[in-house]
Amino acid sequence: MGLLNLLSEDRSENLFLPAHGRGNALPKKIKNLLKLRPGIWDLPELFEIGGPLIREGAIAESQRSSAIEVGVDRCWYGVNGATGLLQSSLLALACPGQAVLMPRNIHKSCIQACLFGGLIPLLFDVPYLTDRGHASVFDRKWLHRVLKKANELENDIAAVVLVNPTYQGYSADIESLIQEIHSHSLPVLVDEAHGAYLISQIRPDLPKSAIYFGADLVVHSLHKSAPGLVQSAVLWSQGEKVDPFKIQRSIELLQTSSPSSLLIASCESSINELIESKGIKKLSSRIEEAELLKNFLINKQVPILKNSDPLRIILHTSRFGLSGIEVDKSFIKKGIIGELAEPGTLTFCLGFSSHKKLGKRFLRIWNEILTSFGQQKSFLFKRPPFKMVSKPYKSCSYSWGSNFEKVNLQDAQGRISVEMVCPYPPGIPLLIPGEILDKARIDWLIEQKGFWPEQIPDFVRVIS
Ligand SMILES: Cc1ncc(COP(=O)(O)O)c(C=O)c1O
Repeated sequence: MGLLNLLSEDRSENLFLPAHGRGNALPKKIKNLLKLRPGIWDLPELFEIGGPLIREGAIAESQRSSAIEVGVDRCWYGVNGATGLLQSSLLALACPGQAVLMPRNIHKSCIQACLFGGLIPLLFDVPYLTDRGHASVFDRKWLHRVLKKANELENDIAAVVLVNPTYQGYSADIESLIQEIHSHSLPVLVDEAHGAYLISQIRPDLPKSAIYFGADLVVHSLHKSAPGLVQSAVLWSQGEKVDPFKIQRSIELLQTSSPSSLLIASCESSINELIESKGIKKLSSRIEEAELLKNFLINKQVPILKNSDPLRIILHTSRFGLSGIEVDKSFIKKGIIGELAEPGTLTFCLGFSSHKKLGKRFLRIWNEILTSFGQQKSFLFKRPPFKMVSKPYKSCSYSWGSNFEKVNLQDAQGRISVEMVCPYPPGIPLLIPGEILDKARIDWLIEQKGFWPEQIPDFVRVIS
């Protein structure tokens, strides 16, 4: 089937991102715009319109007003996803040769920024949930120990990056983590790709955005956690620690010289949905509906894991001895398309559109899947063999650009990787350029290969 046919086909239950659910939950103003003469909205940076980096015009005005509404100093709309704005943020935070402290469950975009920015990724280990194979959240004590160790390893740390909430919707006590980082006089960038809607502060029992706890920079993926079109994103900045000129300059380095006016309009309208009362009311009812659905499934003994994001449902497949990747294929065959298939779980994103009749259908399909696979014993995942803090053996950028050869994973001991090994999604690297392969890492990668057979090759490219 051709691409255009696939784009117009709409037969499945869409429980994947973008969160607008095949257009159902797009903001009204964007829906109306898209109903006009096709392409009428496809405009360049005309004088009256401007662009994310231009001081005058409607876009500058919109960015100023969004920043005021949210209570920060500035913001920039982005047309290359959270990816582009995270990368620009990192280039604004550190110079070539400086280190940036990041958790092991960092998104690959941040490692890529280290590659082309000549930065040193200082990666720290995070707690690991062996029953499902997920990186978990950590507390201030954990981060305190990490910072102590990082300072012993590296004397020029420019910034810290946090990822919160995670893809599966786990959320940390972000306020205390930001306080810890600030107590070391370091700026913090929070990758809140999956938490844009936290700026709405829907209910006191739900997590709050890092923006409200003084994070210096926060990046939102507006198509993942707000009703924006794919590629829409925003970078928020506040305080004195990061020079806005450096941010502006870094965005310019990576941004297209022709940012799409449609995507920028989508940034504006999806942020408005999160801060205007009508949008907040809609989101509130989506959250209530999602909570009812989760409770229904839990009451029917479907293994749903606890998280902090009502709009993400984590099905714990390994509890019944099943791979989330295999279960995903069965769900797709039966017309439900999930978002994040992993070896121990399958995460569904309810997004901003309604799924009122989903419960019974989901339950029926899950029971059919259980019957067809036959119930098996649950299994556990091994903790990854990461040190508390580690930096690549050789520079990331140098290794990436080096001549390489392909060697079988089993034969790679002592060799230095030139590439990332990174199942996608979730896009969390298991190995990054410049890291040395010791026996523990090789054994773990081989084990991971068994879990992600289509994503991890049995060879690795290493410096020749
Ligand atoms: C934690 C995290 N950060 C950043 C990104 C990149 O977001 P985008 O697709 O908007 O570029 C992703 C994408 O999966 C992610 O999971």
